[in-house]
Amino acid sequence: MRKKISIIGAGMTGSTTAHWLAERELADIVLVDIIEGMPQGKALDLLEAMPVIGKDVSIVGSNDFEATANSDIVVMTAGLPRKPGMSRDDLLAANAEIVRSATQAVMKGSPNAIFIVLSNPLDVMAYLVMKTAGIPAKRVIGQAGILDSARMRAFVAMELGVSVENIQCYVLGGHGDEMVPLVHYSNVAGIPLDEILSKDRLEAIVQRTRQGGGEIVSLLKTGSAYYAPAIAVTQMVEAILKDKHLIVPASAYLSGEYGLKDIYFGVPVQLAASGVEKIIEYKLSPEEMAALNKSASGVAENIAKIKN
Ligand code: 2OP
Repeated sequence: MRKKISIIGAGMTGSTTAHWLAERELADIVLVDIIEGMPQGKALDLLEAMPVIGKDVSIVGSNDFEATANSDIVVMTAGLPRKPGMSRDDLLAANAEIVRSATQAVMKGSPNAIFIVLSNPLDVMAYLVMKTAGIPAKRVIGQAGILDSARMRAFVAMELGVSVENIQCYVLGGHGDEMVPLVHYSNVAGIPLDEILSKDRLEAIVQRTRQGGGEIVSLLKTGSAYYAPAIAVTQMVEAILKDKHLIVPASAYLSGEYGLKDIYFGVPVQLAASGVEKIIEYKLSPEEMAALNKSASGVAENIAKIKN
């Protein structure tokens, strides 16, 4: 029997995720949104594309959470995107309400699901889903690290004229402007970035990466990025469904790793059928640790707001 993935929120990110998932024939898909007809229309349109690419998956749209029952994975994209000039943190109050009630609704029919969270502010929303669902933290993962690292990889590829396949980048920390691109662990065919690029060029890439989401928001003006976030989720889904034991940066619950506790935060994790099966701890320089701590204090402040 095929696996079932429910995507909560059928906006640009949700529907683009459905597109990538279906194109890879990973699972049957349910798209849920409160807007009448919209998830149904997008699902039907995508379903009608399947004969052309020869993929056998069912794609259903609904305004009713009952359609999500017995999901193996739930992708949470519900909530508002940023508008130009807004930070992800500005979405906190509005999105906390939406994400909390969507999580409660989904849990009724899918108590064993693994959640992948994209709603912003990402780390806080992942924490909220975990607490609301009341499930083990390894079954709630925030998508951010693959996206932030992919942005950095794209910028390095453009800078050096090298295939994206040769470039590995690791961006840790909260999914915000204080995220921490690791310039020594990141490399081009094994050569650390800080040995290939001048200090100035490297700093420019680090800054552009940190503001990568905002750059897209200010170009689009009406919403935030969706192609890259959606393919990042797809990689996570594939790692879970295929039990790949894949190491990727993602937002995970920390219980002392990197000296941090009771927080969702971007770190390298190993993804497999059970969700986060391991958190990998890099040896970091004092400067990198200081940057991580600065990022963590911002995330912790916002987590404290939703605890009240
Ligand atoms: C981004 O960085 C939407 O947070 C997402 O583009």
